[in-house]
Amino acid sequence: MIKAIEIKNICKTYSGKEKKANNNISFDLLKGEILCIAGENGAGKTTLMKILCGLLKQDSGVIIKNGNIGMVHQHFMLFGDYTASENIVMGLEPRKAGVFLDVKKADFISQKIINENNFSIKTNIKVNELTLGEMQQVEICRILYRNADIIILDEPTSILTETESMSLFDTLKNLANNGKSVILITHKLHEIKHIGDRVAVLRRGELAGIRDVNGIDINEIANMMIGENNSNYLKIVPNEEKKLQIDGDITNNSIDSKPVISFENVIVTRRGQKRPLLDDVSFSVNSGEILGFAGVGGNGLGVIEAALGGFLHPESGKILHKGKDITRFSIRKLRKQGLAFVPADRIRVGSASEASIEENMIINHRNWIGRKNNLIKNLTKSYIENYKIKAPDIKEKASTLSGGNLQKLILARETGGLKDYIVFSEPSWGLDFAASQFIQKEIKALKKKGAAVILISTDLDELLSLADRIMVMYMGRIAGNYTNNGDRSIKEKIGRSMQGVVSE
Ligand SMILES: Nc1ncnc2c1ncn2[C@@H]1O[C@H](COP(=O)(O)OP(=O)(O)OP(=O)(O)O)[C@@H](O)[C@H]1O
Ligand SMILES: [Mg+2]
Repeated sequence: MIKAIEIKNICKTYSGKEKKANNNISFDLLKGEILCIAGENGAGKTTLMKILCGLLKQDSGVIIKNGNIGMVHQHFMLFGDYTASENIVMGLEPRKAGVFLDVKKADFISQKIINENNFSIKTNIKVNELTLGEMQQVEICRILYRNADIIILDEPTSILTETESMSLFDTLKNLANNGKSVILITHKLHEIKHIGDRVAVLRRGELAGIRDVNGIDINEIANMMIGENNSNYLKIVPNEEKKLQIDGDITNNSIDSKPVISFENVIVTRRGQKRPLLDDVSFSVNSGEILGFAGVGGNGLGVIEAALGGFLHPESGKILHKGKDITRFSIRKLRKQGLAFVPADRIRVGSASEASIEENMIINHRNWIGRKNNLIKNLTKSYIENYKIKAPDIKEKASTLSGGNLQKLILARETGGLKDYIVFSEPSWGLDFAASQFIQKEIKALKKKGAAVILISTDLDELLSLADRIMVMYMGRIAGNYTNNGDRSIKEKIGRSMQGVVSE
C-alpha cells in the first residue's frame, strides 16, 4: 500500500486553551482510498484538516505528504466580488498570451466541472449573489479544478441536495479510482457507508479508531464517536419545561388557524435581470404549523429567507404578520414584531465572529439586560446546557467555536427568545447526529407550543420528518405544494417538482 499522507502523533492546543484540540493523533491515508472522518461537534476534525493542509501549525508531531493537498473548507473562502468561474480558476487561471485571464476558457472549464457533478451554479454570476448551497458548489469545483493528489472536503454535503451529493460522490469515486486520495468529513453516517473505504473516528481530540467501512454498522460508528459509556446521549430529549424563557413566551398560545405570517403575490426582482427572483409567491403559515420549503440552489429558497428576514424587500406584493403589513419593515423592526431567525449563513448573518460568545448569546436582549450579570449568567448557562454547546470560556471570540457549536449557539439563542414565529434555514447544517436529533425534537416542541414555523432546507428527509406542508420552489415560483400526509410517494413527487416538473 502506497501512503498518501503519514500522520504521526499530532498534538495541537489553541492558545489560551487547556484542552488539546488534537491529542496524539496518528494514522495513514492510503493512495486511492476514500477515508471518511466522523466525530461529534468539537471533536477536532477541522483542526486536524487545517494542520494537514498547512493552514495551522501543530505543536508537535510529524506529517509526511506524498502529493499536493486541496481542501474544501467548512466555512467558505471565496471572493464575493468575483464570478463563480473566476473563483474556480483563481490562482491557477488559464491565460491568453500568458498574461490576461482567458474568460471564455475559464467559463468552459468551470461549466464542464459543474455538469459532471450535476451542480446548478451559473459561471458568470458573482459569488456574493449566490446562495450558500451554491457557494459550496463553487468551493468544490475550485478543488476539483486544481487536480490535487489529495483532496480534503470538510462537510461538503451538508447543504447539497441528495442528487447533488450523489453526483459529487460519483466524482470522488472516479478520482479515487484514478489514484487520488480523498478525505471526507461528514456527520451523515449513511454517507460513510455509501462512499467510504475506511472511517476514522475522532473523540475529544483523540483518534477513537480507524476501521474498514465494509462490515461496520452505523451504530458502531456512532458508539465510537460518543464512547461506549455514553450511549444514552443519543437518546437525549429536549427538556421543554426547564427552558429559560426570559421574554420568550409565545404570545398567541392558543393554536388557532389564523395565519401568523403570509406572503401575498410577492415579486422580488434583481436589477438588470428579466426573470424575477420570486415570481408571484403566495403562502401562509398558521400558529402551530410547520411550513417547509424545498428546492435546488438558485431557485428562490435563499430569496424567501432574505425577504422573511428583512434583508431585501419585494417590488410588489405584501408580507403580512397577523394581518399587519410588514413588507417594508427593517430587520430590527421585524425582530420587534416577533420574528426569530436562524439564517443559513451562520458566519456573516447569524453571528459576529469577532464578538465574544457571551455577546453573541445575549444580543437579542441587549436593550434591557445591560449589565445584569446574574441574568446574563443564567441565560448563557441555560443555552449551553440545553444545547450542549462546547464553549469552555464564553468571554472568548465566537470564531473559536467549532462549526457545529456555533450553529448550536444560534439555535439556542433564537429558539430561546421565540415570541411568535421562527424561520429556520438549514437548521441542522453542521450538527452532529445527536445535535440534529435534538433540534428536530425542539422544532416539533415549538410547533406544539403554538409557534408558526417556516423551515427552509435542502434536506428532504428533514422536511418530511418535520413539516406539515411542503412547498417546492423552482425558478422563483412555487412549483409544488404538498400536504405531508405520510404518503411514501411524496418524496419522489417533491423530487420531480424540484426539477421543474409541474405537479399533477
Ligand atoms: N481558532 C480557535 N481558537 C481556539 N479554539 C478553537 C479554535 N478553533 C477551534 N477551537 C476549539 O478546538 C476544538 C476542536 O474544534 P474543531 O473545529 O476542530 O472541531 P470539529 O470536529 O471540526 O467540530 P464541528 O463538527 O463542529 O465542525 C473545539 O473545542 C473548538 O472550540
Ligand atoms: Mg469542523
